[in-house]
Amino acid sequence: MSYIQVNNLWKEFGQTPVLERINADIEQGAFVTLVGTSGCGKSTFLNMLLGITQPSRGEITLEDQPLKAEPDGERGIVFQRYSVFPHLNVRQNILIALEFSASPFLARLFGQAKNEALRKVDEIIERVGLSHAATRYPHELSGGMRQRLAIAQALIARPKVLLLDEPFGALDPGIRKDMHQLVKELWQQEKLTVFMVTHDLQEAFLLGTRLWVFDKVRHDPDDASVYGSRITYDLDLSTPQSAANADEFSGEIEQTIAQPVNTLPSS
Ligand SMILES: Nc1ncnc2c1ncn2[C@@H]1O[C@H](COP(=O)(O)OP(=O)(O)OP(=O)(O)O)[C@@H](O)[C@H]1O
Ligand SMILES: [Mg+2]
Repeated sequence: MSYIQVNNLWKEFGQTPVLERINADIEQGAFVTLVGTSGCGKSTFLNMLLGITQPSRGEITLEDQPLKAEPDGERGIVFQRYSVFPHLNVRQNILIALEFSASPFLARLFGQAKNEALRKVDEIIERVGLSHAATRYPHELSGGMRQRLAIAQALIARPKVLLLDEPFGALDPGIRKDMHQLVKELWQQEKLTVFMVTHDLQEAFLLGTRLWVFDKVRHDPDDASVYGSRITYDLDLSTPQSAANADEFSGEIEQTIAQPVNTLPSS
């Protein structure tokens, strides 16, 4: 039994297909990196994993159960745009994420539950290396620190699956390296299953145990929006040998990522 199964998944917005015939088995503990040209449906796929977008056809199962229609604590997400509240400091921003996950309809924890929550918050602040900045407000944080905060918000509900949608796109190379380290550590120590979208193929090779490329297979010469994207490469990066084998496709994949989504093949 695989941990997550994607069964013949299709997604259309109105008449426009974005994804078609997506099938995959994902083992627990995988670190799947997703690349593909802008607009090919990567975020749409993550949103379906999160449960905030419903597939048009097909289904995703987690431990053999269909995903619930609403996101729950099993899945945390870090979006490319920060979901932090400007008027709350670091500690309060993480606490509110916990409060939302604990009681989505009444985002307040009281008494003993609140003390316990604050203990968890401080633990996670330490894990992501923000202890010295716990009382700072978002505008007082660097880009890397804000990203750490966003990751802490996702991790506070102790998800089993972490969804990262271009988490490091806005960061300087040096800070990116620190964040790679952090995410790798958290993945290993928390035994997470990670799906990470990135525009950076090197980053995808570096972090992933498995690399997916989304691209269109079918093209209509009269209308480029008739068909959706599929997974065109599914490469094993879990061992040095398999990663070395996968590397031979990196040139082709770079080309795929660079093309506009509605471009027709040059044949
Ligand atoms: N809620 C929506 N309603 C209608 N169309 C949508 C919706 N969400 C996404 N789309 C369309 O679906 C397609 C895929 O969007 P998506 O955001 O998944 O792409 P992406 O691969 O994440 O792109 P990027 O790399 O630019 O983030 C786009 O054409 C987009 O306009
Ligand atoms: Mg996107």
